[in-house]
Amino acid sequence: MSLYTIIFSPTGTTKKVADTLASAMAEHHTEIDLSDNNRSFSRTAFTDEDLCILAVPVYGGRVPSTAAGRLKELSGNQAKAVLVAVYGNRAFEDALVELQDLAEEAGFSVVAGVAAVAEHSIVREIAHGRPDEADLQSLRGMGKTIKASLNRSAAPELPGNRPYRVYNPVPIGIEVSENCVRCGSCAAVCPVGAISKEDPSLPASSACISCMRCVAVCPLHARQAEPAKVAFIRQKIGPACQSRKENQLFL
Ligand SMILES: Cc1cc2nc3c(=O)[nH]c(=O)nc-3n(C[C@H](O)[C@H](O)[C@H](O)COP(=O)(O)O)c2cc1C
Repeated sequence: MSLYTIIFSPTGTTKKVADTLASAMAEHHTEIDLSDNNRSFSRTAFTDEDLCILAVPVYGGRVPSTAAGRLKELSGNQAKAVLVAVYGNRAFEDALVELQDLAEEAGFSVVAGVAAVAEHSIVREIAHGRPDEADLQSLRGMGKTIKASLNRSAAPELPGNRPYRVYNPVPIGIEVSENCVRCGSCAAVCPVGAISKEDPSLPASSACISCMRCVAVCPLHARQAEPAKVAFIRQKIGPACQSRKENQLFL
């Protein structure tokens, strides 16, 4: 069995969750990065001997559309798939069932689902610092449980609704301060190529998905989400985020 993590992780928490699950299942794994805007995934194919951890963050209770489009290009060929939805302590809503449909359409055989909590990448004081040590320990336990149950034939019952909830993203402007030296670190890793490589200090194009990667990678902290938009989101989702939610495993 070869183990793969197939991840879309703009600010790194989804990767951390996927790596932790993977480390509990095998000594080595190979990563496939769906945030790479410079490659095509149409020749990425697996076999029924492979086990793949498909991990995405939750955006508006859904799978980010960029990740969905790239997942559709993969050829699962009946590889076993563990689905992981990583969310910022508000809700994961229909993300796991949407991920299940995408995985099955791409030819994977779904064996388990995990909903995992991580720091909210827009309102960072929500679930700040998560996954924490307790989260990582629970993920290691889940990885072992999933590994022990790989030969079950039943597909997991995942929570969520079809049709999926409608997500109309409100773009969050990214402010660029005068600290920007146009080094291009942000433009190089933008998952959708929304930042000008010639002048990264210009406003991002309409392709921007507000994933916060450019804010997270800027070495000079010259980029930040528009404070008024963040304040609006904080006010809107704050009440739903107050209680600590825990990771969940679906087998
Ligand atoms: C555009 C956007 C929409 C989000 N929507 C949700 C949501 O519906 N529910 C939630 O709990 N967290 C939501 N979050 C928080 C992310 O799911 C969470 O921070 C995740 O850990 C980010 O993963 P990453 O570090 O791999 O980028 C959203 C974040 C962004 C950027």
